Amino acid sequence: MSNHLLIKACNREEVPRTPVWIMRQAGRYIQEYREIRKKHTFLEMCKNPDLVAEITAQPIKKLGVDAAILFSDILIPVEAMGANLEYQKTGGPKIHNPIRTAEAVDALKIPDPAVDTPFVGEGIKKTKELLKDKVPLIGFSGAPFTLASYMIEGGGSRNYENTKAMMYNNPETYKALMDKITDTLIPYLNAQTEAGAQALQLFDSWVGCMTPQDYEKYVLPYTKKVIKGIDDQTPLIHFATGASTLLKLMKKAGGDIIGIDWRINLNKAWKRIGYDIGIQGNLDPTALLGPTSEIEKRVKDILKRAENRPGHIFNLGHGILPQTPVDHAVAMVKYVKKWSKREHG
Ligand code: CP3
Repeated sequence: MSNHLLIKACNREEVPRTPVWIMRQAGRYIQEYREIRKKHTFLEMCKNPDLVAEITAQPIKKLGVDAAILFSDILIPVEAMGANLEYQKTGGPKIHNPIRTAEAVDALKIPDPAVDTPFVGEGIKKTKELLKDKVPLIGFSGAPFTLASYMIEGGGSRNYENTKAMMYNNPETYKALMDKITDTLIPYLNAQTEAGAQALQLFDSWVGCMTPQDYEKYVLPYTKKVIKGIDDQTPLIHFATGASTLLKLMKKAGGDIIGIDWRINLNKAWKRIGYDIGIQGNLDPTALLGPTSEIEKRVKDILKRAENRPGHIFNLGHGILPQTPVDHAVAMVKYVKKWSKREHG
C-alpha cells in the first residue's frame, strides 16, 4: 500500500486533496533546464543518468507537484529499434530513415532494455535516490500507434497519410511494425518498473486522427497487449489528445486512469468512460499564459466537474508550453491544492 496521493488516486481511493502534476513539467520553461540544455544536445541529456535525475527533480521543489515524471522521450525506444533519430533545432524530432516497406520493418530490432537503453533504468535509480520517495516517479512510453506514426512519417504529421496508406494498402507490413513496437514496449516498460518507477503513463498523443472503427482495428489490439504485458501492480495512465470520441475504446484497451485533453469537459468525459475508472486532466495548457485570476477560475471549474470523486488526477490536457511563466505553473498547483481540499467528516 502506498501513501502517495497519486497512487491512491490511481487506485480510486479517497484522498485528502486531488493530486496534481504537469505533463512535460521538466523542460524549457524552466531557466535551470535551459542552462543545462545550452551545454548538451537533448539526446545527450536523455542518455546521461545524472542529468536525467537532476532534470527530473527540478520541477518537484519549484512547483510543488505530487509526482515526478522521468526526463526522457517517447522516441528513445524507437531509436533503439533502428530509427536514425535527430532532434532538430526547429520542427521537432526527425527520423532520417522513415520505415515504409516490409524490408525496413524486417531490419528493425527488438531492443533489450538492459543492453540497448540501460541509461533509462540507471536514470530511474539515480532519480529515486534524489527524490527520497517524497513523490512517486512516473515512467512512460509512447503507445504503439503514436510511435508507428513517427516511424512511418519520419516526424510529426498533419494528416498521417503515409501511416494510413500503409494500414490500408499493406496491412501485413503495418501489422508487422505494430507487433515489433508492441514487443519492444513491454520489456521497455517492465524494465522501468523494475528499476523503481511507481506508475506508468502511455502517451498515444497522435491517435486522435483515427476513426473509431480504425482505432478498434488498427490500434486497440496492440495497446491492449502492451497494457496486459506490464506488471498489473503498477498503476497505468492511458493518455491521448483529440480523442474525445475514442474514450470508451481507450478504456477497452486498458489503464487505471484515462488521460484526456481540454477539448471536452471533464464531467462529460468521466460520465462517458464510467466512474469505475479514474481520469486525468484537463486544463488547457494555454490557460497558463493568461492571468492567474483566470487560471484560478478554470482550476475551480475543473475541480467542480470532478466533484471530489476518487480517481481524479489534476493535470493539463497536454504538455506545458515552453513560453509558460513558471509563476503561473506554481499558481496552478497552489490553486489545485487549495480548492480540492476535502471537508472533514
Ligand atoms: O513530461 C516530462 O517532463 C517528461 C519528459 C518528456 C519529454 N517528452 C521531454 C522532451 C515526455 C514524457 C515526452 C513525451 C513526448 N515526446 C511526447 C508525448 C507527449 C506529447 O507532448 O504529446 C511526444 C509526442 C514526444 C516527441 C517529441 N519530443 C517532440 C514532438 C519534441 C519536440 C517538440 C518540443 O517540445 O520541443 C520532443 C523534444 C522534447 N521532449 C523536449 C523535452 C523537454 C524538448 C527538447 C529540447 O530541449 O529542445
